Amino acid sequence: MSNVEKIYFSPSSTTKKVVEQIANNFSQKKETYDLLNFNSEKEFSNEDIAIVGMPVFAGRIPKSARKRLEKIKGNNTPAIAVANYGNAHVTDALLELVDLLEENKFNVVAAATTVSHHSIFDGVAVGRPDSEDLKKIDDFSQKCIEKIKTGESLTSEIPGNKPYVDYKQLPFVISCDDMTCAFCYDCVSICPEKAIPDDDPVTTDLDLCSRCTACIHICPEDARTFSGEAFEAKKPEFEKANNQRKECEFYL
Ligand SMILES: Cc1cc2nc3c(=O)[nH]c(=O)nc-3n(C[C@H](O)[C@H](O)[C@H](O)COP(=O)(O)O)c2cc1C
Ligand code: SF4
Ligand code: SF4
Repeated sequence: MSNVEKIYFSPSSTTKKVVEQIANNFSQKKETYDLLNFNSEKEFSNEDIAIVGMPVFAGRIPKSARKRLEKIKGNNTPAIAVANYGNAHVTDALLELVDLLEENKFNVVAAATTVSHHSIFDGVAVGRPDSEDLKKIDDFSQKCIEKIKTGESLTSEIPGNKPYVDYKQLPFVISCDDMTCAFCYDCVSICPEKAIPDDDPVTTDLDLCSRCTACIHICPEDARTFSGEAFEAKKPEFEKANNQRKECEFYL
């Protein structure tokens, strides 16, 4: 029985939204592998179809998401690769994702870079993916459906360079307002780096933290935020530099 496998790492939920938009074009039964929670071995057959979405973190796919995706293998399984970014730069992230899927024996048939609301600098790409993006994503999905029937692989060249750009740790501080925190421990459960102690959710180990934003977005009290001088200084400059709309790009 063939399934559409939705596989994503999506701390602020926009990559999940893009993967789901693509998946909804397919009639098959859907299964979900949310890599914020799923960290196990898995293997798919050539009857399945994988839709794999990763956010762009400093020009790469997030390091811990990569480690989790490395455990998921295909068997000539058709795959659609999506690098979802915040209207700044994709750099090598889509190339890295396509390479990793191919190494893991997926047959990558198509790929895309999609633009979404920036999860750190929230004045950038507000409201995206918007209806215009979603329409383009639907058109792309229909082309993917037709292409999968032919058994062909991706032929377009994917932008990016090897070796990929080095991982970069952002210098911004994540803080938590202890007067606002309701001690629900949702942030502790979701943190992929175990950077929030389970007996003290108002602190964050910034050496372990990847600044992925999952804790900020899950917090029901809005107690967790980026803060500090480096962040406040960078925000207006970054938002000005990235205020021109970029478009989703599709590769078949
Ligand atoms: C640590 C970190 C690094 C990021 N680096 C980039 C980047 O290099 N280029 C870019 O355009 N957006 C970058 N972004 C923005 C995200 O790629 C973008 O907001 C994406 O939609 C987040 O996906 P999510 O909603 O699934 O978490 C970064 C976000 C984070 C948290
Ligand atoms: S503490 Fe850091 S790594 Fe953990 S969820 Fe928050 S931003 Fe992500
Ligand atoms: S998710 Fe928010 S309210 Fe819940 S423990 Fe974490 S910081 Fe506190």
